[in-house]
Amino acid sequence: MSVCVAPSILSADLANLEAEMSRIPSADLVHVDVMDGQFVPNMTFGLPVVERLAEVSPFPLDTHLMIADPDRWATAYVDCGAASVTFHAEAVRAPVRLARELHKRGAKAGIAINPGTPVDFVKDILPFIDRLLVMSVEPGFGGQEFIDETPAKVAYARHLIEKLDREIDLEVDGGMSPVTVPLVAAAGATTVVAGSAIFGAEDPDQAIRRLHAAGR
Ligand code: DX5
Ligand code: ZN
Repeated sequence: MSVCVAPSILSADLANLEAEMSRIPSADLVHVDVMDGQFVPNMTFGLPVVERLAEVSPFPLDTHLMIADPDRWATAYVDCGAASVTFHAEAVRAPVRLARELHKRGAKAGIAINPGTPVDFVKDILPFIDRLLVMSVEPGFGGQEFIDETPAKVAYARHLIEKLDREIDLEVDGGMSPVTVPLVAAAGATTVVAGSAIFGAEDPDQAIRRLHAAGR
C-alpha cells in the first residue's frame, strides 16, 4: 500500500484556491496550514477561509493548527467543516480533553510534534488520538529543507503505535519530495504532506502520483 498524499495549499495560488483544488484530483486529503503569528512567525488562514474551503473542497480538510491556544480554537475548525484537526503538543494544555471534544463533534484528532520535541513527549496521548504528525522542518514556512533525523523519529513513533490496539495515521510534514518520501515511508509513515513539491510543479497532479509511487 502506498502512503496517502496531502497537498499543502500554503504553496498553492492563494488567490485561486478553488481552482487549485481542481488541479489535484489524485490527492487523498487537503492540508490546510493555520498559523497565528504567535506559535510560528507567520500568519496564514483562519476560520472563515477554512469554512469556505470546506464548502468547495472535494477532499476532506486536514487542518494543521500552528497556533498558540488550540484549547480555545480547535473545535471551531470542526464547526467550520474540517474533517480532522491537528494541534501542536508544544502549545496544547489539555490534549486528552481537546481530542475528546473534537471526537464529540465528529472530527479526527491529531497531535503534532516539532523537530525538537521527542516522540516520548506524546506517548501517553497516543491512545486518544487518530493522527500523529511528525514535523520534518521547523513549522512556519513552505519550501524548507527536510531534516535528515526524521526517519529515525518516524520509525520510533511507528514502534509505539504498533503496540497500541488503535489505528493511528502517522503523518510527516515538510520537505517531502520523491527523494525523501521513500525514507519516511520505509520508516512507517502513512501520510505525507507536500506543498512546494506539488504546487511548484508544472503538473501538480503528476507530482502527487510521483509521490504516491515513491511511497509504495
Ligand atoms: C510548514 C507547514 C507545511 C508546509 C510544507 O510549517 O506545516 O505543511 O506547507 O511545505 P513544503 O512541502 O514546501 O515543505
Ligand atoms: Zn502543515
